[in-house]
Amino acid sequence: MPCTTARAHGNVRITPTVLHSGPLRSARVAPQMDPRSFRGRKEDKSTISVAMRESSVQQVALVSAEFPRHFLALLRCSYDAGPLILAAELQRGAVGLVQARLRCAVCDIEYGIEDGIANLISDPLTSEDQYEMAIRDSQHSSLPPDRFVPPASGWRSKLSDLLEIPHHLSELQPKACTVLEIGCGDGRFTMLMAQMGASVLAVDFSLNSLRTLGSRLQSGIAPTAYHLRHLCSPSDLRGRVALVRADASHFHVAPRSFDRALSTTPLDSREERLAMYRSIAEALGDDGRYVGSVENDDLTRRLLGLPLARRYSSGIFIEHFSVAKVWREVSPFFSKLRIRPIRPRLPFIHRLPSNWELCLSRLAAATPVLRHLGEILLFRAERPVRQPTEGIHRRGSKLAKRLFRWYMSKLGKDSLWENNEPI
Ligand SMILES: C[S@@+](CC[C@H](N)C(=O)[O-])C[C@H]1O[C@@H](n2cnc3c(N)ncnc32)[C@H](O)[C@@H]1O
Ligand SMILES: [Zn+2]
Repeated sequence: MPCTTARAHGNVRITPTVLHSGPLRSARVAPQMDPRSFRGRKEDKSTISVAMRESSVQQVALVSAEFPRHFLALLRCSYDAGPLILAAELQRGAVGLVQARLRCAVCDIEYGIEDGIANLISDPLTSEDQYEMAIRDSQHSSLPPDRFVPPASGWRSKLSDLLEIPHHLSELQPKACTVLEIGCGDGRFTMLMAQMGASVLAVDFSLNSLRTLGSRLQSGIAPTAYHLRHLCSPSDLRGRVALVRADASHFHVAPRSFDRALSTTPLDSREERLAMYRSIAEALGDDGRYVGSVENDDLTRRLLGLPLARRYSSGIFIEHFSVAKVWREVSPFFSKLRIRPIRPRLPFIHRLPSNWELCLSRLAAATPVLRHLGEILLFRAERPVRQPTEGIHRRGSKLAKRLFRWYMSKLGKDSLWENNEPI
């Protein structure tokens, strides 16, 4: 989704985000990315490396997030997808764990839960990801105000939220579901889904975004101008949301354990996106549903010949996708896929009264050619594609199986099934 209101990268200040509260002696420890040690790799754009070298970090003040225990069973090791065991419980709060250590049952690596946020970040992050993470951290480096005040324009504006949030939520239908949310940011969707009665495992690589989200959970005030008509949960959402710091392209959860997945982040490369789609398909049950959105290579961009890849004013890399490209990348992992543009950008519309603006934009989104002005491609993916399990019989045809059994009995041979076995 567009983030046009972000700051220029010259202002970014980065500080190491070390989450361990003490030495972890017996086990290997998941490496923590230290931006101070980042010197840029060969492929780095020089502006990125320089901006990162010159920066230092501010972190948001500690917040009251807690990691609800029932989400622990869903977590997996970022390296080998091994189950994580609760190795030490250092501090517990009213609804979950505040400080704890988790250990991978396969490779023994240890991860921390600090201030209620499970840190499953893995090495290596690409330089582009390190750069975006630092910018997102800087955008959320101060505590949020009690009330969310939308900017006048841009992707968090009232119009933008009213045009895109209802489409995502109506495709997702998260009520009473267990949802995996990738790239949750400061919780615009997370909190709405929790208010609808969902349990959400919210993942992002920006620690400050997660802290900001964590600090909002108790009050239950979602950072958006969009409000639900009916809330299905108490205002305190701490028991419904678990926060995880991880890289979406190196992230695993317990297989087939989620009903829904949501991602509003188009990762920077095809390899990263394919890894994320694969993880999401594995995370979902057979009846699961994944809703995602990416930036559209919309009609305006195509007519004006604007670039497919560019950077926001913040410096964050962004790519615009055609329907065909989303199809090519998502369809290997889901056998049912529907893609449509939303949030059309109409010229001069901001000069009209806001309810006119909204009505005309909604009308354009439903009109054949005009809908291709939509700045976002929203997709809904179902029927995750599975690797066939070795040796598991399929249903087949009852008639064919009966004929085969009769034929084998005439030959005096055993059929594939016992005589009393139902076919
Ligand atoms: C466009 S923002 C969307 C935030 C939120 N979902 C919303 O709609 O308000 C994308 C989010 O994805 C996160 N992100 C980007 N790449 C990521 C990665 N590789 N792993 C984890 N999070 C990532 C960013 O930190 C950012 O918070
Ligand atoms: Zn492991």
